[in-house]
Amino acid sequence: MSAQITRIQENLKALKLFKTHELVESFLEEASKNNQPYSDFLDQLLKQEVVAKKEKNIAMRTCLAKFPFVKTLESFDFDFQPSIDKKRIKELATCRFIDNGENVIFLGPPGVGKTHLAVALGIKAVTEGYRTYFTQAMPLIASLSKAYAENRIEERLKFYCQPKLLIIDEIGYIPIDRHGAHLFFQLVSRRYERGALILTSNRSFSQWNEIFGDPVIATAILDRMLHHSTTINIKGNSYRLKEKVKAGLIRQPEVTQS
Ligand SMILES: Nc1ncnc2c1ncn2[C@@H]1O[C@H](COP(=O)(O)OP(=O)(O)OP(=O)(O)O)[C@@H](O)[C@H]1O
Ligand SMILES: [Mg+2]
Repeated sequence: MSAQITRIQENLKALKLFKTHELVESFLEEASKNNQPYSDFLDQLLKQEVVAKKEKNIAMRTCLAKFPFVKTLESFDFDFQPSIDKKRIKELATCRFIDNGENVIFLGPPGVGKTHLAVALGIKAVTEGYRTYFTQAMPLIASLSKAYAENRIEERLKFYCQPKLLIIDEIGYIPIDRHGAHLFFQLVSRRYERGALILTSNRSFSQWNEIFGDPVIATAILDRMLHHSTTINIKGNSYRLKEKVKAGLIRQPEVTQS
């Protein structure tokens, strides 16, 4: 390797152009072999660097979003769940609801794909450059309650208000106490018309009084959340049981209405 190539590579490293650092030698060889114009050489090298940086950025933001798994819209079998209007999901995948600070609520019984779709939209958001954070409802409430007890509630609320898209999974599996409900209300209230939310729940809105143990708080939460929102009410069978049903291990369950 010539002293000049070594110097070029050192400078590329110093500039954090790692993909170019990796490729420059082979690209130079190819360029001189094929008598490639300088502009083509530079164009192709920069293209690779930009792609690599974008991919790294998406991987980093995906990691920061704390998704429980990586699932995409492409891997969602819409034929299995005909109650879902694919067009509405496609519209949500444009991420316009995030720009408008609107909310999306997935309702339905266990295993019908609520978390899958919430994560898939979250991944779309990350890919489009929106800061996104995923949490389940119970750890969220626990973290708000802990912060409140330690006089750090402001800081914690700010943390949950920073992402452009906040996904709160599994509202309703475990009841929330009155204090937790108040803290949750504060969060919903702060994000109202400012930051988008995706929520998933196995309980219909009429049952939210029971989840929050206080009809006044439940109404106030629902009022803000539903003002600018899309509700996807999934009525179907659990995908988790699909394989077992197929294998004849269990009978097809009744379609659950919510
Ligand atoms: N229509 C579908 N196409 C492909 N995979 C699906 C579909 N529906 C669900 N799944 C898969 O089935 C599993 C369960 O789905 P998911 O976790 O989204 O269900 P859920 O509605 O959130 O259930 P729960 O209320 O129990 O949390 C996941 O692995 C998910 O990827
Ligand atoms: Mg789920």
